[in-house]
Amino acid sequence: MKQFDFLILGSGIAGLTFALQAATRGRVAIVTKKDRAESNTNYAQGGIASVTSKEDTFELHVRDTLTAGAGLCKESVVRTIVEEGPARIQELIELGMKFSEREALSEDGGKELDLGREGGHSKRRILHAKDVTGREIERALLNAISKQPNIEIFENHIAIDLITSQKLEKAESGKRKAEIKNRCLGAYVFDKNANRVWTFAAPVTLLATGGCGKVYLYTTNPDIATGDGVAMAYRAGVPIANMEFVQFHPTCLYHPKAKSFLISEAVRGEGGILRTLDGKEFMDGHHPLKSLAPRDIVARAIDSEMKKSGADCVHLDITHKPAKFIIERFPNIYQTCLRYGIDITKEPIPVVPAAHYQCGGVVTNVDGETDIAGLYAVGEVACTGLHGANRLASNSLLEALVCAHRAAEKIIGNRQPAIGNFVIPLWQSGNATNADELVVVSHNWDEIRRLMWDYVGIVRTGKRLQRAQSRLAHLQQEIREYYWNFIVSADLLELRNIATVAELIVRCALMRPESRGLNYNLDFPDLNAEWSQRDSVVRRAN
Ligand code: FAD
Ligand code: SIN
Repeated sequence: MKQFDFLILGSGIAGLTFALQAATRGRVAIVTKKDRAESNTNYAQGGIASVTSKEDTFELHVRDTLTAGAGLCKESVVRTIVEEGPARIQELIELGMKFSEREALSEDGGKELDLGREGGHSKRRILHAKDVTGREIERALLNAISKQPNIEIFENHIAIDLITSQKLEKAESGKRKAEIKNRCLGAYVFDKNANRVWTFAAPVTLLATGGCGKVYLYTTNPDIATGDGVAMAYRAGVPIANMEFVQFHPTCLYHPKAKSFLISEAVRGEGGILRTLDGKEFMDGHHPLKSLAPRDIVARAIDSEMKKSGADCVHLDITHKPAKFIIERFPNIYQTCLRYGIDITKEPIPVVPAAHYQCGGVVTNVDGETDIAGLYAVGEVACTGLHGANRLASNSLLEALVCAHRAAEKIIGNRQPAIGNFVIPLWQSGNATNADELVVVSHNWDEIRRLMWDYVGIVRTGKRLQRAQSRLAHLQQEIREYYWNFIVSADLLELRNIATVAELIVRCALMRPESRGLNYNLDFPDLNAEWSQRDSVVRRAN
């Protein structure tokens, strides 16, 4: 049993930002799956959207966010996040974050922040560190964390499940006591190196576990993104919303040896043009903003061009820009493509859409509060209402920064009751091991990811969703049997979680009888007025 004042699951921008504030009030544990920097945050390229220039206004950023969100954003949440952005960015700079700068256009000369442009933004407002913004964020935050004696980081530790008072009561009395206000007391955590499970107890637990791109066969996300936070919260009885809105990024590098490498939307922001393999510009017929149209439209257009022509990919062409500019602005993309034999200053980049971002998640308010006391969720794992049916590019790092700060302020302002009265039982594990059966884990893992890609992808139909649902139910039955009998392993835990998250995506998609934002269903091609302003919410039955 390990006891802390704050238990943080995840070491991306959300977890680390929260940790720095929490450490001023108590002892903090950060539990993280791999090494400390490994997160979606670490791979972020384009940057953070925030209003910092005189030509821009909060009103325009709010409007762009609402337009991308296709009628489903919560406007008050959008306003809060947009308006608090600049102050949080300033704090990040004070912590040591180095954003790219350019020569100032004003008469006083000097430097000013360089602002990038991405799809759906009416102004240049993306603060970035060349094309490795996330790596620089992790560096700056981890450097600040290393100076905090109150924070302990547990690497290669995977949270398995949340410990809640209701579960304890249920186990003790053999029946559920519905009248008890449910409370989070910590989490069971698998230590990969020691091959054992620890009990972490804390009056405050923050889910900052990021998204679920690995539910799909093709994704821009690294391996950590298996939707663990959503699955854990769902098992604990927390409402989950809007999981059908999976954002597919239009431009992931298409190369047999490249795994999950994103070609930033900023490349199109700087003039990159999407073309068919025979060189034809094809976005004109799809949206007035052409290659810089909102992501859902671009991803669908690429999907449709590929289906029409039977091609495996389309091309993204930036060769008309000076080579010096391309190499300085996109050093990581340039070098990575070059390693795969593609010189992006001279030839177009082969790209395909891939699962990128989870717009739905654990239902919270803008302060990260869930409906279980002591449990907070911030970042990609959470559904605050900022993104609605489609996230505006570069709004997620902003959301994580603002909401992590607000959650910490809220918790620090309200004294958290101690959890001393609860007796938390130690973890009970199955004890069977059978190496032959490990093939079941890897087979089911592949099957889920492929069926999600084939049946629950960019374009959906009711029939395909139902087919996915019945296959998933069967797989989940198998996983459940396996889970309770065998010793835990990282692969098994993640398999259980991707199966749960896949089920939630399908259930939410089946619930929504319309095409809105990222949920495009051929059986319901139009908007349905009854579903405007309506979230698709799922909650585990008792
Ligand atoms: P993450 O940064 O993903 O961190 C999650 C953490 O939780 C990790 O440390 C992980 O190891 C840990 N974890 C997960 N499960 C467990 C578990 N069971 N137990 C313990 N630890 C666990 N957004 C933008 O706004 N701008 C961009 O330019 C941008 N570019 C992107 C580029 C790429 C390639 C990708 C993949 C995403 C990009 N995004 C961008 C999205 C953005 O990076 C993420 O939404 C954001 O970083 C999420 O931050 P987070 O802190 O919520 O989660
Ligand atoms: C990108 O650089 O294209 C990613 C931006 C984002 O996902 O917000």
